[in-house]
Amino acid sequence: MASNSYHHSILFFILLLCTHCAVSSSRISDPETDYNKWLSWNIHRHRRRAMLEKAKPTIQPPSTPPAGGGKVLDYKLRYAEMNATRVRVCQDGTGDFRTIREAVNSIPPNNLRRVIIVISPGVYREKIFIPRTSPFVTFLGDSSDPPTITGNDTASVPGRDGMPLRTFQSATVAIDANYFVAINIKFENTAPHEIGSNGGQAVALRISGTKAAFYNCSFYGSQDTLYDHKGLHYFNNCFIQGSVDFIFGSGRSLYENCHLNSTTKKVASITAQKRSNSSLASGFSFKDCVITGSGLVYLGRAWGDYSRVVFSYTYMDKIVLPQGWSDWGVQNRDSRVYYGEYKCSGPGANSTGRVRWARVLTDEEAQPFIGTYYVEGDTWLVTPSEFF
Ligand SMILES: *[C@@H]1O[C@H](CO)[C@@H](O)[C@H](O)[C@H]1NC(C)=O
Ligand SMILES: *[C@@H]1O[C@H](CO)[C@@H](O)[C@H](O)[C@H]1NC(C)=O
Ligand SMILES: *[C@@H]1O[C@H](CO)[C@@H](O)[C@H](O)[C@H]1NC(C)=O
Ligand SMILES: *[C@@H]1O[C@H](CO)[C@@H](O)[C@H](O)[C@H]1NC(C)=O
Ligand SMILES: *[C@@H]1O[C@H](CO)[C@@H](O)[C@H](O)[C@H]1NC(C)=O
Ligand SMILES: *[C@@H]1O[C@H](CO)[C@@H](O)[C@H](O)[C@H]1NC(C)=O
Repeated sequence: MASNSYHHSILFFILLLCTHCAVSSSRISDPETDYNKWLSWNIHRHRRRAMLEKAKPTIQPPSTPPAGGGKVLDYKLRYAEMNATRVRVCQDGTGDFRTIREAVNSIPPNNLRRVIIVISPGVYREKIFIPRTSPFVTFLGDSSDPPTITGNDTASVPGRDGMPLRTFQSATVAIDANYFVAINIKFENTAPHEIGSNGGQAVALRISGTKAAFYNCSFYGSQDTLYDHKGLHYFNNCFIQGSVDFIFGSGRSLYENCHLNSTTKKVASITAQKRSNSSLASGFSFKDCVITGSGLVYLGRAWGDYSRVVFSYTYMDKIVLPQGWSDWGVQNRDSRVYYGEYKCSGPGANSTGRVRWARVLTDEEAQPFIGTYYVEGDTWLVTPSEFF
């Protein structure tokens, strides 16, 4: 097993090197050439990977990923799932803990097993932090009555040291750990967004650990609801609501079957994807989603010169502005961002008025973004029913 994971690291290293060569060799020329080189590189890499995947021998892991089946989970994760443990949180004292925080704090440092925290229905007014040393945590709620984890911190509220919390620390739930999973949970930050005020950023959830998955969850907030900070993330059947930049950060994430609901009263952006240089693999991909709500919205505005967002098969209500995308007032971003749309529908999807640097993707260009392979899901996505 150890040598298996050693081979994996070598492979990964080679992959990294290749990624690096492919990207840096295209850095000398002008943005347009760079861009097109990257496009064809991305398509070819995707094809190569798809072929490699097909050629792989299939070993039956204890937990098979949702689609495709027969793929191998990474070794640490397989071990953690084999030895899963379960605790129950009930506010009435009939469980192992009364608060989620106590349950999280009971996990020994450098935990190696999956810890499923079953959370009974109720409203939990708690601020929760899962440190890097507590990987493999699952929050499991009841689909007929999901528990709510709520808070109302904002960026400007003073923290313990008297200094403002800032956006990063405003989160009701913050996760630094890898391999986090949430099923049937409502994450909330109730601080209102007042137009024109500073420091109103109020995060409901910040996910900074990699290989995290969210199923049937909802995220309620106003400004900056979901901080998709960094790492590989997968969201399925989730509801995400907010006013300004309500999905933001540097994650490489796939949002599948999600409902994005705007509460803005004027003009705002749904996403602010941050990608500040061309060698980063981050970007948000929305597939089979629905966009509704109030006000007028951009699909995304560029936080960093190389921001990357793709919408595919998504229904866009009329609240989406005809121009679609914003460079946040920095024009040299127009030739560097990657803002693509593919087979979307609804009155907001009309491409006639789009900024000229928005892309209508071809089948080939869209392909790398529209499967769980976009987040390397084969090695770490566990079927949610495994946690019940
Ligand atoms: C499962 O985890 C427990 C607690 O960490 C440990 O004592 C036990 O050896 C593990 N079992 C297996 C089969 O790895
Ligand atoms: C946050 O909620 C608490 C508890 O309900 C309340 O006392 C406090 O005033 C609220 N803070 C803000 C900034 O709204
Ligand atoms: C998620 O919700 C759907 C209904 O919207 C339900 O059919 C499904 O079983 C739920 N999934 C999980 C993992 O609870
Ligand atoms: C979406 O947001 C609007 C306000 O902008 C609200 O009226 C509506 O109820 C929300 N939709 C859902 C499904 O919660
Ligand atoms: C790109 O950004 C990453 C993360 O901030 C950094 O580590 C890396 O050095 C940057 N590369 C270049 C070429 O600027
Ligand atoms: C798209 O918008 C243009 C300009 O507003 C309009 O002429 C055209 O009919 C629209 N197309 C569809 C399919 O609605």
